[in-house]
Amino acid sequence: MTEKKTTRYLSGVQPSGRLHLGNYFGAIANHIRLQDAGDCYYFIANYHAMTTVQDPKELERHTFGVAADYLALGLDPQKALIFRQSDVPEVAELAWIFSCVTGMGLFERAHSYKDKVAHGIAHSVGLFTYPALMAADILIYQSDKVPVGQDQVQHVEITRDIAGYFHGAYRPGVFTLPEAVLSETPRVIGLTGGKMSKSDEASVLPIFCPPDELKKKVMSIVTDSKGVDEAKDPGENALYLLYTLVADEAQAAEMEQGFRKGGMGYGEAKKRLLVALESRFGGPVREARRELEAHPERVEEVLEASARRARRTALGTMEKVYEAVGIPRSKVKKELSSHGI
Ligand code: ADP
Ligand code: TRP
Repeated sequence: MTEKKTTRYLSGVQPSGRLHLGNYFGAIANHIRLQDAGDCYYFIANYHAMTTVQDPKELERHTFGVAADYLALGLDPQKALIFRQSDVPEVAELAWIFSCVTGMGLFERAHSYKDKVAHGIAHSVGLFTYPALMAADILIYQSDKVPVGQDQVQHVEITRDIAGYFHGAYRPGVFTLPEAVLSETPRVIGLTGGKMSKSDEASVLPIFCPPDELKKKVMSIVTDSKGVDEAKDPGENALYLLYTLVADEAQAAEMEQGFRKGGMGYGEAKKRLLVALESRFGGPVREARRELEAHPERVEEVLEASARRARRTALGTMEKVYEAVGIPRSKVKKELSSHGI
C-alpha cells in the first residue's frame, strides 16, 4: 500500500518591524490553523529583512519579536517548526545557484521589487535578487503549499519558474513545485486606506500594541466628514473592514447596517473597533506574549530545536543539488558538518 505523503506547508515572515493585522489575517492565522493539517515549516526571514534593516540590534529584536508573536498567538512547537532562516545557511548557497540559471528579466518583472523601490527602499542587489532567495527557502524544504498574502503570490510563481530553469539546466525532479495558498483575507486594508504594510508605519495596526498607542492609531484612522445620521458606504471604509476581521458576525452586521442607514458615527465605530481588538488580542494572548518577553530562553529553545530539524531536511535536498550541479561533497564539507558546523 502506498502511503499518502503529508502535505508540507512552508512560509516566512520578515522581521522588519512589528507584526500587524495584515500579517495576521493575511498569513499568520492561516499558518497557525494549518499546524493541524500537515507538516508545517515556518521561518523568520532575517536574511530577507537585511534588504531593509541594517541595524544589528533591530534585526535581532524583531527576529525575537516575530517568534514570540507566533508562539503567543497559538503556534504549537510540538506541531509546527518555527526557526530563523539564517540557521539554515544553505538557503543562501542555493539562492546563488539559482541566480546562475535565472535571467535578469524574471527579477525585473517582480512587482514587490518595483513597489519597494517606489517606496524609497534602496535598490540593492539583494533587493533585486530577493526572489532567488525566496525560491531557495521554498524549494530547499520540498514544500507543497505556501500560505501567504496576495502580495507574495507572484514570488511563488517565480519560484516555480526558477525550479523549471534549474531542472532544464541540470536534471528534472530535484525539487517539488509549490503552490501558493491564500487566506480568506489576502489583502488587509491599512489605516491610511492602501495595503497595510510594515514599509508604511502610518498604515500599520500592530497585533501587540501598547493600549495608549493602539487608541491613538485607531483614532487616527482617516474617514470622510459625514455626520452620525448620514448614510455611509462601508465597502471602502478601513474602520468597518478592519472591524469585520475582529468582531463576530452579528456585531459586524450591526455596524454595517448603522453605516448604510445612518445612525453609526465614526467615533462610535472607532470605540467598537478598540473593544473588539482588545478582546481578540488583549487579555490572555497579551499575557502569553509578555511571559515570552520575560523568558527569551524559552523562545530560543524552540527556535534552535526547529532549526535542527529544518536543516536536516535542507541538507537532504542539497545532497541532490550538489550532485546535479557538480559540486563535490568534499572532505572539508563533510568534516565540518560532522562537527555540527
Ligand atoms: P509587510 O508587507 O508588512 O512587510 P511581510 O512582507 O513580512 O509584511 O509579509 C508577511 C506575510 O504577511 C506575507 O505572507 C504577506 O503576504 C502577508 N501580508 C503582509 N501584508 C498584508 C496585508 N496587508 N494583507 C494581507 N496579507 C499581508
Ligand atoms: N517575501 C516574504 C514576505 O515579504 C517573506 C518570505 C521569505 C517568504 N521567504 C519566503 C514567504 C518563503 C513564503 C515563503 O512576506
